[in-house]
Amino acid sequence: MIFGANFAAETSKSFIFTDMATNRTFTMIKPDAYLAGNSGAITKMIEEAGFRLVAVKLTKLSAERAGQFYEVHRERSFYGELCAYMSSGPVVAMILEKDNAVADFRTLIGATNPANAEPGTIRKLFAKSIEANAVHGSDSDENAAIEGSFFFSGTEQF
Ligand code: CMP
Repeated sequence: MIFGANFAAETSKSFIFTDMATNRTFTMIKPDAYLAGNSGAITKMIEEAGFRLVAVKLTKLSAERAGQFYEVHRERSFYGELCAYMSSGPVVAMILEKDNAVADFRTLIGATNPANAEPGTIRKLFAKSIEANAVHGSDSDENAAIEGSFFFSGTEQF
């Protein structure tokens, strides 16, 4: 009987863990938005949209660390400027949780270029340019996990 109860609890725990892991995304409030004092307003929008804060950290990337984070863009013409910009001030890194987190968060933030972002989206409200576009959002579950672990250890995730 006791074995049965423990087995059920363990099974249920691992099911919940698996379910949560696929419903997480990663974001950074970028230096332009942080320095403009918009971190609180952006975080409020994120929470009001139903995302739970799993991990939060105010930090500053070196140009080298920014380059590692954006490694996938290394061959792009804007890579050097992007690394310089992303290391120009603090960022607020966060792991977020919600059903359909990656897609729903990308809807909440809007298009990469704020000129093309829908009204009411975070980038439409707070971004200054395609580079200084207020927030980053992961583009897949796989990258969300990679990007989250770039900033946070397991014991920093709740
Ligand atoms: P992000 O969602 O963080 O992912 C890659 C970033 O590169 C993107 O947001 C922009 O900040 C930046 N980026 C993408 N395209 C351009 C571009 N054409 N010029 C400058 N920066 C860009």
